[in-house]
Amino acid sequence: MRVVIQDTYEKMSKWAADYIAGKIRAHKEDRPFVLGLPTGSSPIGVYKELVRQNQAGELSFANVVTFNMDEYLGLPREHDQSYWYFMHDNFFDHLVDMKPENINILNGMTDDPEGECARYEAKIASYGGIDLFMGGIGVDGHIAFNEPYTSLSSRTGVRDLTTDTRIVNSRFFGGDPEKVPVQALSVGVGTVTDSREVLILINGHNKARALAATVEGGVSQKWTCSALQLHKNAIIACDEAACGELTVDTYKYFLDIERKERL
Ligand code: GLP
Repeated sequence: MRVVIQDTYEKMSKWAADYIAGKIRAHKEDRPFVLGLPTGSSPIGVYKELVRQNQAGELSFANVVTFNMDEYLGLPREHDQSYWYFMHDNFFDHLVDMKPENINILNGMTDDPEGECARYEAKIASYGGIDLFMGGIGVDGHIAFNEPYTSLSSRTGVRDLTTDTRIVNSRFFGGDPEKVPVQALSVGVGTVTDSREVLILINGHNKARALAATVEGGVSQKWTCSALQLHKNAIIACDEAACGELTVDTYKYFLDIERKERL
């Protein structure tokens, strides 16, 4: 696992955006670049920078296909807290050459949730899998909506949200946890770790325990993020604020490694 520690959220976002842009530019194969994407506050800085590069003519999304991680069950696209709305508002609507038909987001209004999830997995497979999955992480270490105790080999499916997650996410629903949907559709932990590369953003003091569990803890379904330890190409991009629960040795080790890589 590679852990890239940046001083600030802004620097973390710039680093991650440059990394993703570099991968898209370097992709020369005769098939689209397949990019997995998250919602949440963590990726907003990355989206801003990718949009800037795209609008400046430095980065094209014409040959990029995207798959989003998750969607609330029961929220229509037009709801300002649906992840469909979030992705268009914060990202897709600002890109000059993203093809709408290349955007894939689970349909939270489906009347056949299991079928919708199976079709999603099949569509990912039809593109030959995901090249790079960017993700965020919940304070309890969930990846996408894979709450604690979700199988580390899970595939796309319906997830029950924990009370904790509904409380944390209530900040987007007028502060009322009861307004947060009780279920979501989500790619599985296995769907994420099947990607050729995984890049997870972890920032802020409230993610410090989750970062320590991801990097230093044992592989455990209690912290679904810990599945990344088994991935060949997993990168954590984090800010200083999220490093508070790492041991000094761990912190120094990763800073040292990155310094050497730059030489
Ligand atoms: C939600 C999403 C996750 C996201 C998490 C963290 O629960 N389902 O995919 O990683 O929120 O959000 P934030 O980045 O706002 O802390």
